[in-house]
Amino acid sequence: MNSTDTAKPPKGLFIKTYGCQMNVYDSERMRDVLRPLGYAPVDGPEQADLVVLNTCHIREKATEKVYSELGQLKRMKEASGGRMTIAVAGCVAQAEGEELIRRQPAVDLVLGPQAYHKLPEMIARASRAVGDRLETEFDTLEKFDALPKARAADGPTAFLSVQEGCDKFCTFCVVPYTRGAELSRSVEDIVVEARSLASQGVREISLLGQNVNAFHGAAPAIEGGPDWDLGQLCRHIAKIGGIDRIRYTTSHPRDMDDDLIAAHGDTPEMMPFLHLPVQSGSDRILKAMNRGHTAAEFHDIIAKVRTARPGIALASDFIVGFPGETDADFEATMDLVRQTGFATAYSFKYSRRPGTPAAEMFGQVPEDVKNARLQALQALLRDQQTAFNASQVGQTLDVLVTGKGRQPGQVHGRSPYQQAVHFNGPTELIGQIASVHVVDSSLNSLTGEFISAREAAA
Ligand code: 5AD
Ligand code: SF4
Repeated sequence: MNSTDTAKPPKGLFIKTYGCQMNVYDSERMRDVLRPLGYAPVDGPEQADLVVLNTCHIREKATEKVYSELGQLKRMKEASGGRMTIAVAGCVAQAEGEELIRRQPAVDLVLGPQAYHKLPEMIARASRAVGDRLETEFDTLEKFDALPKARAADGPTAFLSVQEGCDKFCTFCVVPYTRGAELSRSVEDIVVEARSLASQGVREISLLGQNVNAFHGAAPAIEGGPDWDLGQLCRHIAKIGGIDRIRYTTSHPRDMDDDLIAAHGDTPEMMPFLHLPVQSGSDRILKAMNRGHTAAEFHDIIAKVRTARPGIALASDFIVGFPGETDADFEATMDLVRQTGFATAYSFKYSRRPGTPAAEMFGQVPEDVKNARLQALQALLRDQQTAFNASQVGQTLDVLVTGKGRQPGQVHGRSPYQQAVHFNGPTELIGQIASVHVVDSSLNSLTGEFISAREAAA
């Protein structure tokens, strides 16, 4: 028997992911692209031949972490006799490419988010020490076309990228500069990927995009092309056998159109959970942020969404301490939170990002004021989250079981409202939807009792 094909030991690959879900998705795609080259995931950077840091530039802290991680990797690389290849991907790579190589010469490759399909070629070049170490051209279409469409699923939930980039230019945000202009994938490509995931047992798909509800993908003429919006796409994916749950993230209030809102009401596969970042409740600050809507307009959208899908759980993002934010502006944010009621939320202190308009604005808010506001906001949001979780006690929820729990005999999964749920049940339930009676709740999870399982829809 000729075994030369399998004789080569796999090369160790370690990808560390920072930041948003788009980066989590991109890291999976880099693994897919590298698998045919013989790269297999290892548990830590020490065992790796190739280490990829998939970075985030959104706040200063996230960027700083990359440089300290690179310092540690440099020492490991030296200890490995130079065997380790270090690649920096993601938004820090895009924004600080040249600077990265200058500040940390141990870095072999720098590639921006639009260049992942070129990774094999870049590794080959690096191993021969020829050519450029930097690839930060913007060509999202080329990336969409070049990455494999059928990919290996990892469990019953999966991300699926439908859109990249952002044209909104919020004055605090680096994304339009690091991820480029808004661009949607074609409906056909998305559906091929969704079908492939469904055939591997995926039951929940999260459609991803920096501005996912700005999606307008070219649809096949027979399906009523030319372009579909996100509502149409969700309705179509809902028809794929095996797909029981659809989510999407992250959206912008300005793109929350009537059809998407209607889809929440007419498509049961669309989960009753909406993450809609609002950032602030003050019209003055929303204007300075260039968000393109007022607090009242946000309330109107929420009212429409709640009419279309009563009981929908809401999530949002908030920034405190944006330049010029007064106590009264901050109180307006607290009011918006009180009036809306969120199931969960992310909140951040404003971080000054070089190159963005807000970085140059007057009235930068002192750190201690930002800290105090963040604490007050987070206390309110925690209370709302605790109350929302407590409101589920006594109810029976569908839980998509995703894995074993921490305690023996326990499994865990997600409720339709995206809450973590733990309960005692057999591991055969993993990948299925279980009916679970909720008996207890805390800030971060629900505890339940197993009632019955539901087989995958044909
Ligand atoms: N400072 C603080 N938070 C920010 N975000 C984006 N840019 C900044 C910044 N400069 C937050 C927003 C956004 C989330 C992904 O990160 O709330 O919705
Ligand atoms: Fe950044 Fe605003 Fe675009 Fe969101 S919509 S990615 S916050 S610029």
